[in-house]
Amino acid sequence: MRALVVTPDAPSCLALTEVADPAPTPDQVLVEVEHVSLNHGELLLARTGTTAPGVVHGWDAAGVVARTAGNGSGLAVGDRVLTFGTSGAWAQRRAVPVAEVAVVPDGVDLPVAATLPVAGVTALRALRRSGTLLARRVLVTGASGGVGRIAVQLAARAGAHVIASARRTDGLAELGAHQVIANLDDLAPESVDVVVENVGGDQLVRAWRALAPGGVIQSIGYTSGGPAAFPAYTTVGPAKSLTSFYMGPGLGADMAYLLDLVATGALAVHVGWRGPWQRYDEAANALVNREVNGKVVLDVD
Ligand SMILES: NC(=O)c1ccc[n+]([C@@H]2O[C@H](COP(=O)([O-])OP(=O)(O)OC[C@H]3O[C@@H](n4cnc5c(N)ncnc54)[C@H](OP(=O)(O)O)[C@@H]3O)[C@@H](O)[C@H]2O)c1
Repeated sequence: MRALVVTPDAPSCLALTEVADPAPTPDQVLVEVEHVSLNHGELLLARTGTTAPGVVHGWDAAGVVARTAGNGSGLAVGDRVLTFGTSGAWAQRRAVPVAEVAVVPDGVDLPVAATLPVAGVTALRALRRSGTLLARRVLVTGASGGVGRIAVQLAARAGAHVIASARRTDGLAELGAHQVIANLDDLAPESVDVVVENVGGDQLVRAWRALAPGGVIQSIGYTSGGPAAFPAYTTVGPAKSLTSFYMGPGLGADMAYLLDLVATGALAVHVGWRGPWQRYDEAANALVNREVNGKVVLDVD
């Protein structure tokens, strides 16, 4: 089969190469992949050499079950499914544990479904870990991106007052943001309760300034790549938290929840770039260079 394989001397450190088909273990289903989505983090892992050469890369894939798991999975050949794993997505076929699979409901297109695993489950779990959101003020930084656009919608749906922050602010009010800002300095000190923080650097420092006592910053990502210099004594005072975040495994149930929201029109996914997987390099550069609003989807053939 063909797959995008980590190749350090290739553009974006990935090459479309012939590799052996995956051999599913008894708890894995084999899926014919039709669409994959790109995430900021996996692009960096390939480009920085963190993922070993020769690995079939990619986390999110949607497709059709070609072979069910040996130990019974409730899935049938031909089912349309969404899948997650820490490698193996960007290939014509993928073997994936049943715990990382969700059936895609009728009415949800596979390219749309493909955007949900990492971005959607990260937004969901970060908000869930932040406690009740009803009538609380939630700031989402990098709100135009994959995680951000879903976090804005889920927080609004949970009853929060949502403040979306991004350079590209278009469409964020329509997703449910009550306030849309391009500069975190516009926020009063100690005026938000929860921060879904995707950008790091200066924005992390400004988000800390805006965080009220008792509040929490979920440090999800670091797209800025810059240093975070906290002015003296800004970390001293009434207790508030900056906590590291990792999405973790076992996405099946949460992916199913998000797919149901999409099926009922309660969650919108914006695909800002879509094309054949042969154009991987162009798509990856567009995402990393902040030229894409929302998600990138590649069609696998
Ligand atoms: N911890 C975890 O388990 C976990 C899981 C998923 C994702 N992540 C991380 O979360 C972050 C967001 O992921 P994503 O998939 O949503 O990324 P994304 O789609 O690329 O969105 C990130 C957003 O951040 C903003 N941004 C990008 N570069 C920036 C820069 N240099 N300075 C300031 N803002 C910048 C962009 O908005 P504007 O250009 O409009 O400002 C962009 O829309 C990434 O760092 C990713 O690695 C972590």
